Amino acid sequence: MDRSAEKIIRVSNAVYKYNRDTEDEVTALRGISFEIAEGEFVALVGANGSGKSTLARLLNALYIPDEGDVFVSGINTASDKNEDILAVRRTVGVVFQNPDNQMVASIIEDDVAFGPENLGLPPAEIRERVDWALECVGMADHKKGTPFRLSGGQKQRIAIAGVLAMRPRVMVLDESTAMLDPRGKKEVMDVVERIRSEAGVTVIMITHFPDEAARADRVIALSGGRVAMDMPSSAALSDVEALRSIGLDAPLPARIAYELRKRGLSMPEGITTPDGLTEALCRIKN
Ligand SMILES: Nc1ncnc2c1ncn2[C@@H]1O[C@H](COP(=O)(O)OP(=O)(O)OP(=O)(O)O)[C@@H](O)[C@H]1O
Ligand SMILES: [Mg+2]
Repeated sequence: MDRSAEKIIRVSNAVYKYNRDTEDEVTALRGISFEIAEGEFVALVGANGSGKSTLARLLNALYIPDEGDVFVSGINTASDKNEDILAVRRTVGVVFQNPDNQMVASIIEDDVAFGPENLGLPPAEIRERVDWALECVGMADHKKGTPFRLSGGQKQRIAIAGVLAMRPRVMVLDESTAMLDPRGKKEVMDVVERIRSEAGVTVIMITHFPDEAARADRVIALSGGRVAMDMPSSAALSDVEALRSIGLDAPLPARIAYELRKRGLSMPEGITTPDGLTEALCRIKN
């Protein structure tokens, strides 16, 4: 196969069941298909239990689909070759929720070095990658400190650095801002944008916050283990009714535009941000 033409992620009719063939069987994914090209910034949204975290685990071969296929850079995650699975795990790095459970060392730089050490890299390269990753997340000054006294946002950024230091081509962030206050959220979102623009990493950001999803280029929304929406983020996040039908709120500016439109004001489509709403209102005033 010509790998250059291959999308970095290709999911084809993926089905995943927990506790398969038992009384407790749960079908978490019911035939998911999508492709992601290198360099894209995708927000993966969906109500609780819609299958987002399950999908994240399929993308780095922690789980293998029961039906259908997941390809990472052309490699089928169901391959029985060890080298294929290693290649998949090197390509797709996942930052799981709850960084407290992910801290493994008592010094920050050792914690970030854990992943690259497991890749068997030479010490000089490990050091270089750790410094680069800590720089990238804005935590270079803390490298000799302990991870246990950090704020939630700082801990999340260390967890991101640990995955970043493995230099994955794709990063999946599972609700990395969920527990954070507005400042922590902003710190993490800024890091996500930097990873994408400066390191050129393909980003799949799982989030409950529609205003964060608005920063992505594209939104994939799951509902009941199926893809309910897959479109540019401005189209997805301004569709107040479609989002509501799958248990999600549109960003506040989109909801205000929607209410104004219902009251007869001529508001342009695709408003998802405070800036977009402000501009539309000023145009009406003038
Ligand atoms: N370890 C498990 N054993 C059994 N069922 C599970 C397990 N993990 C998840 N599920 C079920 O699979 C479905 C999808 O769960 P998943 O965690 O992927 O959803 P999610 O979209 O990440 O939800 P949330 O927004 O709450 O994080 C749910 O019905 C959930 O109850
Ligand atoms: Mg989840």
